[in-house]
Amino acid sequence: MSKVVFSNVSKRFPGAAGAAAGLAVNNLNLTIEEGTLVTLLGPSGCGKTTTLRMLAGFENPTGGSILIGGRDVTNVPVNARNVGMVFQSYALFPHMSVRENVEYGVRLLNLKRSEMKERVDSMLETMALTQYADRSPSRLSGGQQQRVALARAVATQPKVLLFDEPLSNLDAQLRERMRDELRTIQLRLGITSLYVTHDQSEAMAISDRVVVMRNGIIEQDDTPLNVYARPGTAFVAEFMGKANILNGTVEAIGDDSVQVRISASLVFSLPRGNRTFRLGEGVRCVVRPEHIRVDPQGSLQVTVRRVVFQGAYVEYLTDIEGQECVLADTDYIRTGVAETGQPIRLSIDSRPVWLLPNTQTEIRTAA
Ligand SMILES: Nc1ncnc2c1ncn2[C@@H]1O[C@H](COP(=O)(O)OP(=O)(O)O)[C@@H](O)[C@H]1O
Ligand SMILES: [Mg+2]
Repeated sequence: MSKVVFSNVSKRFPGAAGAAAGLAVNNLNLTIEEGTLVTLLGPSGCGKTTTLRMLAGFENPTGGSILIGGRDVTNVPVNARNVGMVFQSYALFPHMSVRENVEYGVRLLNLKRSEMKERVDSMLETMALTQYADRSPSRLSGGQQQRVALARAVATQPKVLLFDEPLSNLDAQLRERMRDELRTIQLRLGITSLYVTHDQSEAMAISDRVVVMRNGIIEQDDTPLNVYARPGTAFVAEFMGKANILNGTVEAIGDDSVQVRISASLVFSLPRGNRTFRLGEGVRCVVRPEHIRVDPQGSLQVTVRRVVFQGAYVEYLTDIEGQECVLADTDYIRTGVAETGQPIRLSIDSRPVWLLPNTQTEIRTAA
């Protein structure tokens, strides 16, 4: 068993400025279920690396405890935790061959020679590195080097695998391929993993759960689908991708739904859930650009303020009675591209519209 639990974990760097007076991580509670991959996602400085380093044992928490497989490792040194790490810089040994790099961690395990060779061979095979075994890492591509780093970490059969922005040094196409490879290998080996990135599409593509952090605090810990489509806060909505956050007013309250008016010609009918509403209450709706359709029969007329060609879609910047609104038109080849200043008609289906929880009154206290 190698479930990971962070329980009320904080890290204060003495004298450090920034978020909440030196609190890099603020009372973090997080569970990584056995065999799953959880991603810490958030802007630079939000506490991702510090959280990861505390799990590895490179930093000591100033409060709380960390468990791996039910064992409290809070005060256990790095080399006794059995975690593997993959860094952005690969940190390969340049004077060693690929095979020697992969052997490196395994050597410390005092295995029999034959057993060690078998393990390293199979690891090289898994990572498609067998043919490069005798090469120096400097003669490999970035993607191959990253695979060596992964092989070296996995060869020790760690309980937990940690990744700190491992793909940041690769170009966009390779990054996508490597991220799919990483995920395939992680699933195949079933290793409990904590992955750090500031790239939201990477996080959504590889994770069982995405933990969005901000200023040392967890904003939302949820499935990739939920952090994108059902964000708990405006910060999460905007961090996960382009989002229109439209202010509206509750106009009618039904048994199962509420009517929210955004403008004279735009009303959404949204599920009520178990939330209570007041007539006239101000609410915020999240509308993703890809859910707004250019539609000559649409009831909403807007003016195009700016056109940005993106290839897969054309982005129109408009406004709805003064509220900024961006939409992504994927059908532009058939219908043509509108120009700046031109009026266009839109329709917006209520179904993908997400009503933000009312968190304005929530007060967060420091740990
Ligand atoms: N060794 C350190 N000493 C002082 N402050 C630090 C140290 N490491 C990180 N911090 C601070 O802690 C906060 C979180 O940093 P970090 O965990 O590296 O963020 P991220 O990985 O999300 O970019 C930042 O404000 C950073 O400046
Ligand atoms: Mg970092």
